[in-house]
Amino acid sequence: MRVGILGSGLMGGKLGTILARAGHEVVFSYARSEQKLEKLARDAKGNARSGTPREAAEAADAVLLAVHWSRTDDVLDQTGDLSGKVVLTCSLPMTDEDTELVVAHTSSGAEELAKRIPQARVVAAFNTVPSEALFGVYEARRRTSRPSLVYCGDDRRGKQLAAGLISDVGFDPVDAGPLRIARYAEPFALLVAQLAYEGKGGPELAYRFELFRSTRRKK
Ligand SMILES: NC(=O)c1ccc[n+]([C@@H]2O[C@H](COP(=O)([O-])OP(=O)(O)OC[C@H]3O[C@@H](n4cnc5c(N)ncnc54)[C@H](OP(=O)(O)O)[C@@H]3O)[C@@H](O)[C@H]2O)c1
Repeated sequence: MRVGILGSGLMGGKLGTILARAGHEVVFSYARSEQKLEKLARDAKGNARSGTPREAAEAADAVLLAVHWSRTDDVLDQTGDLSGKVVLTCSLPMTDEDTELVVAHTSSGAEELAKRIPQARVVAAFNTVPSEALFGVYEARRRTSRPSLVYCGDDRRGKQLAAGLISDVGFDPVDAGPLRIARYAEPFALLVAQLAYEGKGGPELAYRFELFRSTRRKK
């Protein structure tokens, strides 16, 4: 699959690298230096190259939006028309200081993004995991018990594609429902970040949902 990375920092750089290593064709775009994008493409050691946001989106089956909330308009302006494209967003609608969500409860960053690009197939994914965990999850992908990763969206094809990419990174994709569920997933991402960055175990943290059905007979 062809994946365009819009924002090649901690999340975009690592996810693009993993997806290239997993066999996808990746274009890294949107960083403050062209050299950084070229180096990412070289180091990915897969089918990866650097480009402009427009080039990253042009031939892509899916793009990953991975910029700070404050950069959303800028990167989308540089990307151009995303009609019909699957747009995975890991972006969280944070204040400039990264201390609070600026959208919550009655909407979400993912829903606001979908309003901004109404012809695109927006799926919220990868927003509930710290970047530090990504390479470890990929390396552990052959284990039977994989970490969960919630995703949500309103477009069936977009969600199918997202689930495939989530699985390729090494997670067990958990379909959380329509895009409005990002209202719950985005604050949950802050809980995960709290545990990752303030907890005792360190930031290489992912989560797993399991079913625990009682064997006791119901009365
Ligand atoms: N980091 C995490 O663990 C994590 C986890 C879950 C969700 N998120 C969310 O994912 C999104 C991306 O986070 P991140 O940590 O990957 O951010 P990041 O490391 O800051 O990456 C953002 C990318 O945007 C580029 N950029 C910023 N300003 C630019 C400008 N003026 N012109 C061109 N490029 C510019 C940066 O360039 P440079 O590479 O040159 O800096 C970088 O490549 C955010 O919305 C965040 O809330 C992050």
